[in-house]
Amino acid sequence: MRQPLVIETHSARETEAAGAALARDLLEKEPDGAVVALSGDLGVGKTAFARGAGTVLAPDACVQSPTYTLVRVYGGPGRQMIHFDLYRIQDEDDLLSVGFYDYLEEGNFLFIEWSERVPQVLPERFYRVEIERTGEPDGRRIRITGPGEAL
Ligand SMILES: Nc1ncnc2c1ncn2[C@@H]1O[C@H](COP(=O)(O)OP(=O)(O)O)[C@@H](O)[C@H]1O
Ligand SMILES: [Mg+2]
Repeated sequence: MRQPLVIETHSARETEAAGAALARDLLEKEPDGAVVALSGDLGVGKTAFARGAGTVLAPDACVQSPTYTLVRVYGGPGRQMIHFDLYRIQDEDDLLSVGFYDYLEEGNFLFIEWSERVPQVLPERFYRVEIERTGEPDGRRIRITGPGEAL
């Protein structure tokens, strides 16, 4: 995969497929887990992208938005997909109380929406997924950047 990788999608389904493709790549290149930070406006498709990744990382689960819970955990035992939405986070204590740092250490696949609210909590190595509207109806541009040469 060359980076940054830019994909244009025209439906939620296509954005889900992009998430699934990244997840397959991660399984191959990051067997010990990875952190993916998703950014972009409300309603742009971050959860859709994570849902697609979930079809690969935790195939029995149906990924929903963790907006009201901060975190949802899918899959396991063994590999788990941990999906955070930090939109409503007040401070770093909220992260402690949902066990953010424990998940970080366990070699899981973390997908984090709104990490820009608490950027200091991201580890040194993480993947970035930035989504923006193209201006066309349902059009989205997804830019994926890996941590150095790993991608
Ligand atoms: N190309 C696209 N990619 C993703 N979502 C899209 C696209 N076009 C339209 N949508 C719609 O945009 C919304 C995205 O919602 P969601 O994934 O929850 O956004 P976010 O998590 O960024 O707030 C959904 O209603 C989805 O159907
Ligand atoms: Mg969301």
